[in-house]
Amino acid sequence: MDRLSDKAKAAVTLLPDKEVYGEVTKILGLLVEIVGFGQNLSIGSMVYLRPNDLIDVPCEVVGFRDGHALLMPFGTLEGIGLGCKAVIQEKAPVIRPDDSWLGRVINGRAEAIDGLGPLRLGGHPVPLKNKPPPPHSRQRMGKQLDLGVRTVNSFLATCQGQRMGIFSGSGVGKSVLLSMMARYTDADVSVIGLVGERGREVQEFLEDDLGPDGLARSVVVVATGDEPALMRRQAAYITLSIAEYFRDQGKNVLCLIDSVTRFAMAQREIGLSAGEPPTSKGYPPTTFGELARLLERAGPGAQGQGSITGLFSVLVEGDDHNEPISDAVRGIVDGHIVMQREIADRGRYPAINVLKSVSRAMPAALTEQQNQIIRRAKQIITTYEDMAELIRLGAYRRGSDPEVDNAIAIYPQIEEFLSQHKDEQTMIEEGFERLGTIIGMPYLSEAYMSNDLPGYDAEFEALVRQQPNEKPPEQEAAPVIEEDEQPSPDEFIEKSPFTAINKANKDNEPEVNDG
Ligand SMILES: Nc1ncnc2c1ncn2[C@@H]1O[C@H](COP(=O)(O)OP(=O)(O)O)[C@@H](O)[C@H]1O
Ligand SMILES: [Mg+2]
Repeated sequence: MDRLSDKAKAAVTLLPDKEVYGEVTKILGLLVEIVGFGQNLSIGSMVYLRPNDLIDVPCEVVGFRDGHALLMPFGTLEGIGLGCKAVIQEKAPVIRPDDSWLGRVINGRAEAIDGLGPLRLGGHPVPLKNKPPPPHSRQRMGKQLDLGVRTVNSFLATCQGQRMGIFSGSGVGKSVLLSMMARYTDADVSVIGLVGERGREVQEFLEDDLGPDGLARSVVVVATGDEPALMRRQAAYITLSIAEYFRDQGKNVLCLIDSVTRFAMAQREIGLSAGEPPTSKGYPPTTFGELARLLERAGPGAQGQGSITGLFSVLVEGDDHNEPISDAVRGIVDGHIVMQREIADRGRYPAINVLKSVSRAMPAALTEQQNQIIRRAKQIITTYEDMAELIRLGAYRRGSDPEVDNAIAIYPQIEEFLSQHKDEQTMIEEGFERLGTIIGMPYLSEAYMSNDLPGYDAEFEALVRQQPNEKPPEQEAAPVIEEDEQPSPDEFIEKSPFTAINKANKDNEPEVNDG
């Protein structure tokens, strides 16, 4: 490997006050052993292998054995032999993000890889393995974050500082969904970590999915699948460190990692190389600790800071939602979005199964009116799905059950609501209006009524105020409502065949807010 230029090295490290040296005594595969480092090393320390002035291989300490330190390289070990000089860096590695990093694409060592020249370094170093704010000083989750995807905004409301996992097999649409959220969110900044992706996918993600507008308010960290495990793992750390930098300035940050499974696999590679025993599915115990430490760094900030809302994709191998990484992530995050191949196969994207997905910010994040709409929509979906097989076989006779008839009439529109092209954006209020209309519960937005929405529409308001019991003319009446009596939302709820069920459900609803 070429000697690192000084600017590149400065991007990820603080130069040591004095140089301390060790010496290579053994190289086994990707594992290097050194001696002679004194008291200066600990797990995670950086070491530079420097056989001559032209070669400089950055490594990290991953373990100790019999008085030797075990290192893994960030690049190839070409040119490294026994007796090679190992320059030890005593301080914990840090990066120095800057506002000018927005719009940039960088690698797992915080070096620019977009051909737009070197990065400017900021004045505030952030440790790569930063700690989350202490639990007692952390704020509570903030208000609902607009993610621009109507299924998520309505059925899976996500708040500032919440952490969500996105689970599916490969090719079901996780990356596209993440890019939509990064592009359409009303968060101040997005920090996106693409960990272990194929190189081709990265370009597609940047150009087709995120687009120039999305990129302009994002920092993208990339480590492709062919890079060394340390680079892939560190890309995830750097993503969080950059998110923390913006959070500390009071910004509400959206932090995406695609995927944390690849992060876990990198940690597995590192742990096994350092001699750790494998436990479940070949993952050594450190995998789960590292995973928890990483995801815990997202969340609300301390008083005076902003927040980091985390969206983490999880690759569910063989569509087995109980494999160890899925299980571990589900136990850490505050909600999960489950995407299913059967749904994608019938052409509905994003292929989110709303009945199997949960946001722990619900129902507190929504207004009573919004919760009523969601409860009723879920009821209709459940009714339809329970009967779907019979309906498809033609074994259900129309008229036998008004509830099922209603679901059959409405379901196609709900399905249409749930599907969203990646170039389409739907804001929170817009989504509820649309869903409310479909299920026959006209949605009257508080913000519209108090006219403080940025997109405030005076004409619409006048319409609503004049004819509170009528819908705007362009909206079709939902099938369940009789032509001549358009009830107000409250009346409607009282009359609805679902009211009894809704009430019963509401009373029996399990607490989903705690862990
Ligand atoms: N919202 C969407 N609209 C249209 N097509 C989509 C959408 N989401 C996903 N797809 C299709 O699914 C394919 C796989 O999506 P991707 O996000 O790469 O899956 P994953 O990350 O889960 O492996 C995409 O190439 C695209 O063809
Ligand atoms: Mg993907």
